[in-house]
Amino acid sequence: MSQVMETEPILIVDDNPNNLKVLSYALGSARFKVAVAKSGEGALKQVQYKPPALILLDVMMPGMDGFETCKRLKENPATKEIPVIFMTALDDTDNKVKGLSLGAVDYITKPFKTEEVLARVNVHMKLRSLSKQLQEQNQILEQKVTERTAELALSLEKLKETQIQLVQHEKMATLGQLVAGVGHEINNPVNFIYGNINHAQQYIQEVITLLNLYKKKFPEPGAEILKQIEAIDLDFVVEDLPQLISSLKEGTQRIAQISKSMRTFSRSDTSQMVKFNIHDGLDSTILILKHRLKANEKRPAIEIIKNYGNLPEVWCYPGQLNQVFMNAIANAIDALDESNQGRSYEEINADPNKIAIRTEIIDNGDYMAIAIEDNGPGMSQEVKAKIFDHLFTTKPPGKGTGLGLSISRQIVEEKHRGKLRCISSEGLGTEFIIEIPIYKSSD
Ligand SMILES: Nc1ncnc2c1ncn2[C@@H]1O[C@H](COP(=O)(O)OP(=O)(O)O)[C@@H](O)[C@H]1O
Ligand SMILES: [Mg+2]
Repeated sequence: MSQVMETEPILIVDDNPNNLKVLSYALGSARFKVAVAKSGEGALKQVQYKPPALILLDVMMPGMDGFETCKRLKENPATKEIPVIFMTALDDTDNKVKGLSLGAVDYITKPFKTEEVLARVNVHMKLRSLSKQLQEQNQILEQKVTERTAELALSLEKLKETQIQLVQHEKMATLGQLVAGVGHEINNPVNFIYGNINHAQQYIQEVITLLNLYKKKFPEPGAEILKQIEAIDLDFVVEDLPQLISSLKEGTQRIAQISKSMRTFSRSDTSQMVKFNIHDGLDSTILILKHRLKANEKRPAIEIIKNYGNLPEVWCYPGQLNQVFMNAIANAIDALDESNQGRSYEEINADPNKIAIRTEIIDNGDYMAIAIEDNGPGMSQEVKAKIFDHLFTTKPPGKGTGLGLSISRQIVEEKHRGKLRCISSEGLGTEFIIEIPIYKSSD
């Protein structure tokens, strides 16, 4: 039947050698493994090093009697599960009851009837084996439940991460659409103004020429006209008007540039790679972050030092790369602002905030590198080890999400098969290097 029978013996405890002999013989012939003890003390010792499957325990023994032995067995967590069957005189009801109340599972009566002994022993061995199996099953189940719970907790964690990422992604997409939309909407009226300004400029020039001609032909226009000329300060108007038009033109040109940058920055390109001028991406990102770079009451403007190499247009997902540039530059601005804390305007001015952006071709033209470097506070090695971790941030809630670099790494390394590296140490600034393969495939 079970393993229990093969490995664990039945322990017979009795001070009467004859009883031991009779029972040993009966159980042995039924192929049970048998162990014997001649006293309660002996039994307690034996169960320590060779735990039995079942104990047949005599009640009356000199020294420690059966009840005391049973009590001790039940008190010890290591032995309390071993079933105990008492051996008692036929009509000794009190002892039978006492034995059962002490935790015995059954009793057999003396003089022994072999069939009865075997029948009872069989039942309890079977029960013991079943309960052991049940225990094992329980343990397996518990183990499984623990494992599943851990798995579920992990899935939940992953789900939460994915959700945050989705929300972030959605936000970026919406923001991108907004920027693209605004850029697009501005474009038409700006072109409209820009186109008309040229005509206005021309008309004004013609009117001024005509005025000058009038002046020459009719040097005495009369009191009324002279009065009006003086009232409007005609000389000033004639001098200022062309300059005014030039400024309008300049302003309009700038708006057109912003609108173009907005459209460049927010190019939606999720489905396939397109050829893109990385410098346009960097420039449009800088323009969009301009409000954060310019001087304020606490510090002078952050200086942007561009050092662009001679890059070809590359196959990439421009909108996503711009997101990487945006995050790197925004992180640099955050870091610089942090390092400015506690420094006066003059102190900052003496060692101004700088962000250097360098591009170059590396690896014999196989890759291009875009390095974004700041002279901010840098980071400790502990922080540096974690910056690419999802949700890792050292910024206060509401300011940092800890998503920027993990998403950036995903965009650079998974989407573009490139590499995103960071060089930084405390007090020595930070440099992020983005390396993107240059595909020279079908043009
Ligand atoms: N240029 C930098 N200088 C110093 N620390 C930086 C710089 N860029 C990133 N870090 C560190 O990396 C962390 C993670 O950046 P990021 O993933 O963009 O998340 P977030 O900007 O929301 O904190 C930042 O909280 C900051 O501690
Ligand atoms: Mg960031």
